Amino acid sequence: MNRKINLLHNMRKYIVAGNWKMNTTVPEGVALAKAVVEASKDLPANVEIVVAPPFTHLAPVAEVVKGTRVKLSAQNCADHEKGAYTGEVSVAMLASLGCDYTILGHSERRQYYGETDEKLVEKVKLALAGGLKVILCVGENLDEREAGKHFDVVTAQIENVLFHFTAEDLKNIVVAYEPVWAIGTGKTATAAQAEEIHACIRSVIAGKFGLAAADDLTIQYGGSCKPSNARELFAEKDIDGGLIGGAALKADDFIAIAASF
Ligand code: PGA
Repeated sequence: MNRKINLLHNMRKYIVAGNWKMNTTVPEGVALAKAVVEASKDLPANVEIVVAPPFTHLAPVAEVVKGTRVKLSAQNCADHEKGAYTGEVSVAMLASLGCDYTILGHSERRQYYGETDEKLVEKVKLALAGGLKVILCVGENLDEREAGKHFDVVTAQIENVLFHFTAEDLKNIVVAYEPVWAIGTGKTATAAQAEEIHACIRSVIAGKFGLAAADDLTIQYGGSCKPSNARELFAEKDIDGGLIGGAALKADDFIAIAASF
């Protein structure tokens, strides 16, 4: 019931994105993208479908999704515009391939590659300036959750990055709440645990940018989201989709999740 009231009263977009991480070869990724395009044809129009393959797959997958409802995302971008940064991939390169989005601040990048909030501010600036939308990931780890610090940690991540931007910028930003202890572990946050953090994020955004901006912000849940738990999660009033890892590697599971609204 709440969900229906929401749909009538706001412009919020529902987005289900598949983060393939460092999985699949190029031919496997192209086949997966084709299967996602095919299976997404029957989904309700109010759900946006995004695939985020590895950098090496973006060009051929861009050809597959061109002219379809499936949007293309990178998993990261460089924190400099161009130049002598061996091994990095710039926003302009991604945009020139037809990317619509880039994921930024995934916990794996924060944890294994030293991605800081300061660096993320630079990356989000470059992405928006270069015409990419951003899926910004936030989320606490297990120690922080057990110490009861999850609200503080997530609030700080939102403030440290998004408070450098404007309500106008927020129209091109999606937030993904991904509790680190739920990523790839099979241990999903309960719908109630996820909803209370989503509501907290929305109220932090409302406090800084106003109610309209907060109401329009898409906040995805990520962390062991699968067809069997997606419906319960998406029924919560502040959960507007999912950032899907493992289950995005099977087109049927991914589309079943997207069909859960
Ligand atoms: P998972 O990953 O669905 O495999 O837990 C989610 C993510 O890291 O985006």
